[in-house]
Amino acid sequence: MSVNAISGNKIPDINLHDYGEIVFFTGAGMSAESGIPTYRGAGGIWHQYNWDEFACQKAFERNPEKVLGFHELRRSAILECHPHAGHKIISKVQMQHQDTWIVTQNIDGMHQRAGSNKVIELHGSLWRLRCQQHGIFEDFGPKYKTRKCPHCDNWLRPDVTWFEDILDISLMEKTAQLVVNADLFITIGTSGIVFPAATFPVLAHESGAYTICINSEFPENPEVFDDVAVGKASEILEKMFKPGSIKA
Ligand code: APR
Repeated sequence: MSVNAISGNKIPDINLHDYGEIVFFTGAGMSAESGIPTYRGAGGIWHQYNWDEFACQKAFERNPEKVLGFHELRRSAILECHPHAGHKIISKVQMQHQDTWIVTQNIDGMHQRAGSNKVIELHGSLWRLRCQQHGIFEDFGPKYKTRKCPHCDNWLRPDVTWFEDILDISLMEKTAQLVVNADLFITIGTSGIVFPAATFPVLAHESGAYTICINSEFPENPEVFDDVAVGKASEILEKMFKPGSIKA
């Protein structure tokens, strides 16, 4: 662990030309300034809702309408929110530096709404539903267009990773490949305690990337970061990527 990571107050100045492959690894704290609650901090979703009633396959099988209702509520709340300056900075970095990927644990689609592409949604998306037999249905909007599969009439489940689910292996492999090749790996707004996603900062560190953590609290795993910047995502990103280092 570097001295900077221990002191927890270094905001590095990033020059994009110094790096080949760049990965931003984001969690709920990335969307907090847009007004979307995180999962575990003050006001976190899992303090208000029991995940075993709303966010696991067993709950869905017991009461699909209740689980779909919870996800529909989240959809309408999220559509009231907008990407913030931090999302826009990342999107500008991507425009300027082609080899930049976002790996997000967020299911809210905020990076894409800020204009980003090359986004891996490790935990799925609130804007998709899936039928076990007939695959994926895109479904954007506050309300679900349909809650049942038009082909077999089975309940559609949100295409998100719930507790006790297994992550999509092809997404894990693609992410691992990006992370191993990354020269710069920036973690933003995640508690870093949910596995397997939490292994990626470790992999980036072990693979020799320059690893930075941006979080409003000091992280649980500082040893995997070369630098830790404690503060709000948008404010730190604005300081790290100064006007001039990226074009407007
Ligand atoms: N800027 C930076 N960090 C912030 C901000 C902010 N404005 N606001 C909050 N944070 C930090 C919190 O301090 C916390 O460490 O973001 C982190 C959010 O942690 P969690 O709520 O645990 O969210 P996340 O790490 O994304 O959760 C992982 O858990 O329940 C599952 O599937 C869900 O994808 C989610 C996964």
